[in-house]
Order: sequence, then C-alpha cells, then structure tokens
Amino acid sequence: MCGIVGYLGKNNSKEIILNGLKELEYRGYDSAGITILQNDFVNYRAVGKLSNLVEKMDSFNVSGFSAGIGHTRWATHGKPTEENAHPHQGAFTHIVHNGIIENYAELKKNLIGKGYKFSSQTDTEVIVHLFEENLKISNSNYEAFQKTIEQLHGAYALLLITKNENEKIYFAKEGSPLILGSNENGEQFFASSDSALIGIVEKVIYLHDGHFGFVENGKIFLQNASGEIPQNFSALPKSRETAQKNSFRYFMEKEIYEQSVVVSDTLMGRVLDNSINFDEVDKTLFDGINEIKLCACGTSYHTALASSYLFERIAKVRVSVEFGSEFRYRDPLLTKDTLFVSISQSGETADTLASLKMAKKSGLKTLAICNVDNSSIVRISDQAILTRAGIEKGVASTKAFATQMVVLQMLSIYLGQIRGNISETEIKKEIQTLREIPQTLTVTSKLHEKIKRLSKRYLHGHGFFFVGRDIFYPLALEGALKLKEISYLHAEGYPAGEMKHGPIALADPELFTIALLPQNMLYEKTKSNIEELGARDSTICVISPKPFELADDFVRTSSHNHYMLEFFEMMLVVQLLSMEVAIRLQNDVDMPRNLAKSVTVE
Ligand code: M6R
Repeated sequence: MCGIVGYLGKNNSKEIILNGLKELEYRGYDSAGITILQNDFVNYRAVGKLSNLVEKMDSFNVSGFSAGIGHTRWATHGKPTEENAHPHQGAFTHIVHNGIIENYAELKKNLIGKGYKFSSQTDTEVIVHLFEENLKISNSNYEAFQKTIEQLHGAYALLLITKNENEKIYFAKEGSPLILGSNENGEQFFASSDSALIGIVEKVIYLHDGHFGFVENGKIFLQNASGEIPQNFSALPKSRETAQKNSFRYFMEKEIYEQSVVVSDTLMGRVLDNSINFDEVDKTLFDGINEIKLCACGTSYHTALASSYLFERIAKVRVSVEFGSEFRYRDPLLTKDTLFVSISQSGETADTLASLKMAKKSGLKTLAICNVDNSSIVRISDQAILTRAGIEKGVASTKAFATQMVVLQMLSIYLGQIRGNISETEIKKEIQTLREIPQTLTVTSKLHEKIKRLSKRYLHGHGFFFVGRDIFYPLALEGALKLKEISYLHAEGYPAGEMKHGPIALADPELFTIALLPQNMLYEKTKSNIEELGARDSTICVISPKPFELADDFVRTSSHNHYMLEFFEMMLVVQLLSMEVAIRLQNDVDMPRNLAKSVTVE
C-alpha cells in the first residue's frame, strides 16, 4: 500500500525521506518519488524498487532549510509508470497522496473543461489542479487548501507543498493513516506509519479522520471542521520490531487483524456501483477461453480450489485446479483455449513458477494473482492482478489468503459479467456482498476471547478433522493446514460428506472435529454429516450461526445472507483457533519449525 514521508527543517531532507520510505517498503509498492522544495522544486520519480530512485538521486544533494515530500505508490488508478508515480505536479504545487478519491472522474472532467492538462492517469492529480483552481477564488493558500479538501470524496492522507510558501507543508487526513512528528529543533516529520519515524523523532500526533492543517518552521496548526484543536502528542515506541507488530503478540496475529483493512484496499477501485473493474487487465485475455486452469501450492492452492466453486457457479466457466508440484511432472494435456492462472503470495514459489513456464511454453495465455509486484511470476505472466495484502511476515499465511480470495471472487463476477452469464440483479447482490466483507473481517474482542478460552480444550488428542461442504471444504483444508503448520498437531481437512467413506473409522473422543456449518450452503446435509461423527463419539466443535445441540463446543457466527460472508467469518475463527492453540503450546507462531516463507526450491 502507498506510503508517505514528509520533512520540514534544516537537516538533510533527501536522506530523511529516503530512509523513511525504506522503512515503509513492507507496505508494498511499485514506484516511488520525492520532491524537495527550496527556492524551486526538485522532483525525482522512478518505477520499481526504491533503489532505482536512490540511484537517480545520487548526484543530488540538499543543504539548508527545505520542505520535502516522498511517496511509495501501490498502483490503483493507472499502471505503475513514472508519470503515475507521486509527487504529482501542478504549475506551482506538488502533492503526495495515499487513498482513493472517489469523485475524481467528475472533478477531472470539470478541470479539463477549465483548461487544465493532466499528465497521469491517477485520481491524485486532480487534487493538485483543484488546489490551484481554488486559489484563484481564495485569499490565501490555506483557504484554497480547505476548499480543496472539502470537495474530495473518498479516502486520503495527503501532503501538499507550494512554491510561494516554500517553508510550509499542508496536510489532511481522511480514512488513510498519517502521523505528524515534531522535535525541539523545530523540525517536523510526516509518515504513514510510525516505523518510518522511530529513532528520528520521539513524539508524534496520530492524526484522526477530519484533521488538517499545516506545519511551518517549528509551528503546527491543527484543526478539524469545527476549528483549531489541541495537539495531543504520544511517545513513539522504542523498537521497530514492536512498532511493526503494533502491540500484537505475533505478526500472524497482527495480520489476522489487518484483514479487514487489506481486503478493503484490495476491493478499492475494483468494485463499482454495478460492475467489477480491473483496470490492470486487458479484456482480450479472456477471448476464446473455454477453461480456466488454476495452479498454486499450499494456502494459495486452497484459494484456487475455493474459487473453482465460484468460477463455475457464477461465471459458468469450466475450471480445473492443479498443485504446482504435480502439474509440472504429469505431462498434462493442454489446449490453447485454456487460461492458466497462477496464484501465489510471494510470486517466487518454485513449483508454481515452473508450471507457469510450462504453460507459457505450450502457448497458453497466462494470468498471475500475486501479492508481490515485479516477482518472477508477475513478470513472466501475460497479465497480473495484484492482491494488496502488504508484506506478510508470518510464515502461516492469513491476509494473503483473504486477499487472494476476494480477488478471485471479483474475477468470477467479472468473467460472468463480460460473458453475459450473470444477470444485473445477481451482479448487484454479489457486489453488495463484496462490500460487506471488510466489516465481516473485523475481529471483535468477544470472538477472540471466546477462542482463547476454547483453545485450552484442543491441545492434545490424536488428531483433528476440519470438515465442510462446497466452498467450505477448501476452507476446512486451510483450517487444517493452519493448525498443523504452527501447532504441529495432526489435522486433516475433509469434505463433510466423505466421512463415511473411510475417515469416520478414526472417530473417538480423542479425535477433534472442527465443523464448518454455514446457514446458506447445504446446511441440512452438513448437519447430518456432523451428527454422524457425533454418534461415533468424536469431540465436536461446531462453527455456525445456528445453535447445534449435540456439539461439545460451539462458536456462534453472525447470521449473514450470503455464504461468502459466512466463509470469511469462519476463516477468521479457524485462523484464530490455530494461533491460540499454537501459543498455548508455546510454539514460535511466526517462524514454525521446518517451514520457510517463500519456497523457492523444489
Ligand atoms: O507464496 P506462495 O503463495 O506461492 O506460497 C505457497 C505456499 O508455500 C504457502 O501458501 C504455504 O503453504 C504457507 N506456509 C501457508 O501458510
């Protein structure tokens, strides 16, 4: 996700901003840029890694007082090009922005009508021209700045500098994070997250939505819509590691809690009023396609399998799902009417990558669903859709799973839409569901406490069955994988209807069944399967919005009107349960034994 750093003061702004951007790299980005203002602007922008920007700025040095703004961009509107990289520029103003301006198209049309020329495809560029337009009818820069932010709808954290006031930075926050730091030497700092400021400033203001103002040579002016407000400073954490974990016990826990935000980032700009839109994808990719082959490993394989239910149900496209490690050695029959979709968090998994190369060699069209831009899988694929999970540190994948799942869910609707296989009413219903996912993914303290208590009963036994039907079967697989990865307990995922074909022979009180029982998908069928296990004395924990009398334990989920909302809520439950069991067993949750985050070897 985009990152912002700003600095006003007499020290080396170039170095301070580049170091800050480096600390924000974990958020993920595809281009970066900096503007330094002294008597005039000096602007550098570069696509790709921050090192490209550093190289470009090598011969540039700054000394004396300056105002500087820097940015790492994760593309939403417009491709990752130099023109689309921030800071964006007007005639005498530069700006960096994190978030999405929802009414940018309307504002842009108006500004073009007034003669403004746009040099990027971003939503951000409207802000800079709008400010310069507002200045014509304002008595001061600040008045123009206020008028500008009043006209913006959507989410923003922004910093603006303008030439005729070269010792000031204007700022505003709505929806996206922004922190303001200050020290006794009169220096002012801005950043999207405190990790960029640790070690260089000790006290900061965590700006709230609706806050805006300016900093000027040692002074801060902070206000909201009602007028000037008190400046509440907090002390910054001492270590980066603690800051990055934000007081969570483990990165995995933090990443589970982040899912609501990163899923909402993943939906941003892609879910419109009545349709799904992937700016980054050229529709011709789907011309002549009769089958989709989804290929992945581990958790990513589970999203592939889960989405195969959606592609066939919603888009009415035939789907096959492949493990990378199997596909590459089994001489598959490939036909050119198949779209090969690789799914990977890292974009570097050796088996998925080798399978992709094979598919390319056979002349198949290829699409990557990936969390890391410029990774091998993204570079090799014809086209890519990036999940926007930010860097995932926990080896056990959580937020990458959630964001892959929503991308694939959107893609199934998108395909249904471009092939005319989904009605307008259905599209509306699916879109409404997508919009409700971030809220569903909010972890409440009630749920977390319940699972913490529950976890103490699930530490031993001879094994776990995670069971579910339809799309809840891949979720059961994922629940079992999470548990075994970090607790080292034996766990298997099964389709609930398969129990009586063999696995039920294992049922006894020491076999724990975690049963996914949604109300909107095969409720009665799944319930009977769980009862069969209960009758054989398995210890059963049911996860469902409807009470289940025979259960030994019960986690009540909310009542939703779409099975995908139940899917995401149950995903949270199995992730939290696995983590709490592992914590009780005193395992290293973030770095489990024998596992690596990115499996780049066979
Ligand atoms: O980076 P990828 O998504 O390609 O990685 C695939 C698997 O190695 C990965 O999902 C693995 O299973 C995780 N440890 C799951 O938590």
